[in-house]
Parts: sequence; C-alpha cells; structure tokens
Amino acid sequence: METVNQLLDSIKDVGRDAVRGGYSRAVYSTAELDLRSWFIEQATQRGLDVETDRNGIIWAWWGKPQDGALVTGSHLDSVPGGGAFDGPLGVASALAAVDLLKARGVQPRRSLAITAFPEEEGSRFGVACLGSRLLTGAIDVDKARNLRDGDGNTFADVARANGLDPRHIGPDPQALARIGDFVELHVEQGKGLGAGGPAIAVGSSILGHGRWKLSISGQGNHAGTTLMADRADPMVAAAQIIVAIRQAAARQPDARATVGRLIPVPGGTNVIASRVDMWLDARHPEDAVTARLIEAIHGRAQRVSAEEGCTVTLTEESYSGTVHFDPDLTRSISGMLPDAPLLATGAGHDAGVLAGFVPSAMLFVRNPSGISHSPEEHVTDEDAGAGAAALADVLAGLL
Ligand code: GLV
Ligand code: MN
Ligand code: MN
Ligand code: MN
Repeated sequence: METVNQLLDSIKDVGRDAVRGGYSRAVYSTAELDLRSWFIEQATQRGLDVETDRNGIIWAWWGKPQDGALVTGSHLDSVPGGGAFDGPLGVASALAAVDLLKARGVQPRRSLAITAFPEEEGSRFGVACLGSRLLTGAIDVDKARNLRDGDGNTFADVARANGLDPRHIGPDPQALARIGDFVELHVEQGKGLGAGGPAIAVGSSILGHGRWKLSISGQGNHAGTTLMADRADPMVAAAQIIVAIRQAAARQPDARATVGRLIPVPGGTNVIASRVDMWLDARHPEDAVTARLIEAIHGRAQRVSAEEGCTVTLTEESYSGTVHFDPDLTRSISGMLPDAPLLATGAGHDAGVLAGFVPSAMLFVRNPSGISHSPEEHVTDEDAGAGAAALADVLAGLL
C-alpha cells in the first residue's frame, strides 16, 4: 500500500528535461515507456491483471474484464517541459485509491479498471487524446496511421516498433463496451481552486478546442546578400500573423488562441527561411464562433503574407466541440463530495473524448498557482492525498 505522494515520488526522476526544465515524456519515448513499465509493475504488485489493447491503452483490472465496468485513469505522456502532475496524478491517484478501497474492505459489485491513455497531449503526433480517439473511432484510422512526429516517423511505424499492429489500431467497440462509467482525476490547470477553499472540484465541462497548421512559404535566401527590399521572408509574415491571432482572440469574449510551436525551414541564423510551419491552438465554447475566428485569422494571414511576397495555407488538424460531462454521473459524484464545487476547464482530456460515447466525469485537484503545461505546475502533498481519498470515495460509491 502506497500513498499517491509516495507513488509520484517514485517517478520524480523519470523524463526530467535538463534543457527545458520540468518533464518531457513524449508518447513512446524512453521516459514514457519507463512510466508505462512503472504503471504495469505497480498494478501487477497490487494483483491487478494488466493488458495493453490494440491502441496501446493500458488496462489494469481489479476483477475480471467485463462490460459495464467502472474505469478510472489518465495519461503518462507530457507536453515538452511540462509539470509532474498533468497525467500521472490521475494514474497514481487511481492506484492509491485501489489501495484505500482494499484497506477499507470494499467488495466491488462490478470490476474496476485503471487505464493509461497514450498521446493525450498530442505532443509527438499532433493530435491530442489520440488513444481515446482511436478507441472510440473519433479519428479516422488512416489519418492516425499517417500522422508524423518531428523526425518524420509515422504513427504506424512507431506503433509497430512498440508492439502494436498498425493494421489493427482503430475503433475497438469491445474495449469501449467495458467502460460503464469513466472518471478521470486530473490536476486543475487554471485558477479555479484558490487557497482557503475546497481542494477538489467536480468537472462540469471542457471548452471546445482545436489545432490548425499554418504553412507560410517565401523565398529562402542569404542573410547577408539579400537587400531588405528584395525579401519574401516567411518569418516576418509569421510574426505579424501571431500578433494578429492575439488581437483577434482578445476581441472575442471567451476565446483563447495560442501559437506555441513554430518551425522555420531550414532554420539557420544566416538564412532567410523558405518556409515557416506553425501551429495554432484555438478554443471557444461555441463551434460557430471558433469557425468565424479561424476564418478571420486565415484572411488576415493571407493579406499579411501577400504583403511580404509569401503565400500561406491553413489546415485543420483536429477539433473537439465543447463537452458537458454526464449529468447523472456528475450529480451522483457531487452527492458523494458535498464540499466540491463544479468547475469547467479550458483543458482537453481523454474523459472529454470518452464523454461522447460513455458516461464520463472528472475530478480536479487544486494547483495553487494555476500554472500548468510548465515546470511550475504544482499540487501540495496534502491536496494530492485529499484527491486520492476523494477518488476512493467516488469509486466506492460507484462500484
Ligand atoms: C491538454 O492538456 C490540452 O488541453 O491541450
Ligand atoms: Mn492531462
Ligand atoms: Mn496537458
Ligand atoms: Mn556562404
């Protein structure tokens, strides 16, 4: 029996990023594979039966695999230079909760599974929640197979190298039928749970969000010999497009828009880039508003690019509308945690993808600064313990 803090402590050195700070645990990197092995070992030590399905989702069963089981879990991959809690907190809390339930002598009326979903962040292959999208059929399988990482490897090839058969990835109705209810515990990623108030919240909704790729093409050339008047520099267009994105989102209440990743090609200090690829993450509660925002950004990007002698393409890579968690499940969880407020989140989660198919709900654990996707993301030991205890109460009530 281990507490959630002991469990998190045992992985605190896995995937540390000496350059960015924090953790870089991209799916199927050495670090994420180490965490997968750690999870399998922890589950096995607890007498849980572990299986990895055809989409690389790990399931650890307390009781026989069965349809309609209670399932809890989260993910082990991270953003580049991320915090220690986004993902692993939910997996470690689930393991600790099983310990608490066993110590309390809880006799489950149905089986419980703990899951770890691959590529929740989309940090390697670009599509967030790739594991749960494959499981549910929320992504076209051919599109998924052909996703490429930054080194040009396809998801199919990486899946194969990690023991999966790329021909068999994709919708898995049998695995999905095993999820009767899904509950994901996650670190809170904004300022929703302040000091002095409750440490745990029950999720109400996830903000609609998507990713778009912008490719700006210009004329690659020499930094020293090309007169300023003779340039078609896509970096200059990119800079103006980024500012335009910021302005467009700031004018739209409740919108969020971010360019967090940009690749100049070929990327030399004394080289005017020939192309810039950059990725836009945009979020808003209403699909139509997001669509208008993207259209406005596309128009501005075309004008700015033309002024610089460049061209631009904009392509949608993924989109998920606003999700409201299952009202009955959420109500019953709120009844078990009377002090926990309902809280909406701007972050995406596998529970959000699953919510389109099975009753799903979330618990959030306080993050004192509200900072996430950063090495500064934090949860106190006390709040982590309270989160695992709350999850145990919820699982006991639902089992
Ligand atoms: C996942 O954390 C996301 O919201 O991008
Ligand atoms: Mn997460
Ligand atoms: Mn995240
Ligand atoms: Mn030269």
